[in-house]
Amino acid sequence: MRTLDDVEVDGKRVLVRVDFNVPLDGAVITDDTRIRAALPTLMALRERGARLILVTHLGRPKGEDPSLSTEPVARRLEELIGAPVLRAGSVVGPAVLEQSHQLEPGGILMLENVRYEPGETVNDDTLARSLAELADVYVNDAFGAAHRAHASTEGVTHHVQASAAGLLLQREVQTLNAIFDAPDRPLVAVVGGAKVTDKIDVIDRFLEIADVIAIGGAMCFPFFAAQGHGVGASLCEPEGIEPALRALEAASASGCRLELPVDLVLGERFDAQTTVRELDGIDVPDGWMGLDVGPRTRALYAAEIAGAGSVLWNGPMGAFELAPFAAGTLAVAQAVADAKGVTVVGGGDSVAALVQFGFSDRVTHLSTGGGAFLELLEGKSLPGVEALS
Ligand code: 3PG
Repeated sequence: MRTLDDVEVDGKRVLVRVDFNVPLDGAVITDDTRIRAALPTLMALRERGARLILVTHLGRPKGEDPSLSTEPVARRLEELIGAPVLRAGSVVGPAVLEQSHQLEPGGILMLENVRYEPGETVNDDTLARSLAELADVYVNDAFGAAHRAHASTEGVTHHVQASAAGLLLQREVQTLNAIFDAPDRPLVAVVGGAKVTDKIDVIDRFLEIADVIAIGGAMCFPFFAAQGHGVGASLCEPEGIEPALRALEAASASGCRLELPVDLVLGERFDAQTTVRELDGIDVPDGWMGLDVGPRTRALYAAEIAGAGSVLWNGPMGAFELAPFAAGTLAVAQAVADAKGVTVVGGGDSVAALVQFGFSDRVTHLSTGGGAFLELLEGKSLPGVEALS
């Protein structure tokens, strides 16, 4: 993968693909982590005299949608970087091309939402060429979108003189690859979330390389169902039972311990006001749903994390958005924050939990990727990364 060290940018127009796909409440950005995460690359390029043209997607608009304009992210970037951020009224075209040529060294121009262009998600070559015309050099720092083969993440690389990864993309890929190639052991993977089918490829891969996989969230119920336990009214994905059974069998033949919860917190309904009880065991009675892991599981998982050389966490342990069922996810977040080993956290919900509990600056690496993070964990190659090699 080519990096910023491999490209000459002084005085050049540099098209930087960023992932500023941030959560919005109206025009208000509710979490600017992804904008902050791109700052090192943008500052490094400015210091080297580059003229920056930024391109991002925002949401999934069907054509032009003013509620998904890049205006709010441009204004937020301006505050964070402390320099003016000009805006283009569209993604490509003669006016934007003219603006790109008028930029001063260190100047920043933000294009309109690239998904206003129908050619973006189908990796249309004409759009890719028009984007490439805006710049001499292309830098991709959009790790969160690197699993998409779109015009601004893949197609454009075929039409620029030079392309390279930005510092964020480089760090994301190198950190995860290091976990797979030469982890400090024991390597403990904590995998949670609602559906086992979403995570089975990650579990399969970790069965081959991890020392321990600790499962949490509603995805433990297909495992329990496969073992013949009662799951009551818990969320238990029927299609997850067969893969869960396969994973249990693979685990018994592998050198990796697959840990499941040993106790649970139950509720009558998925509601913060519902009746709550602890279950010292895992056989959920009828009329109850398992909504969090219990205190013994919390202690066991925290001990695994404390003793780990490397920890990878993806997915919450329970319905942490409801206060009575947040303790399991909080315990994992706390243990990850306190861990002595290398800690890598990714996936929207686990990152949101770390932020909510105030631990986001206490991990080795907090990934900005959702789908991209999962695909990298699954061992898939990411088109946006491949295009830079
Ligand atoms: C994300 O939020 O995971 C990335 O920005 C990718 O967005 P997408 O799933 O709409 O392609």
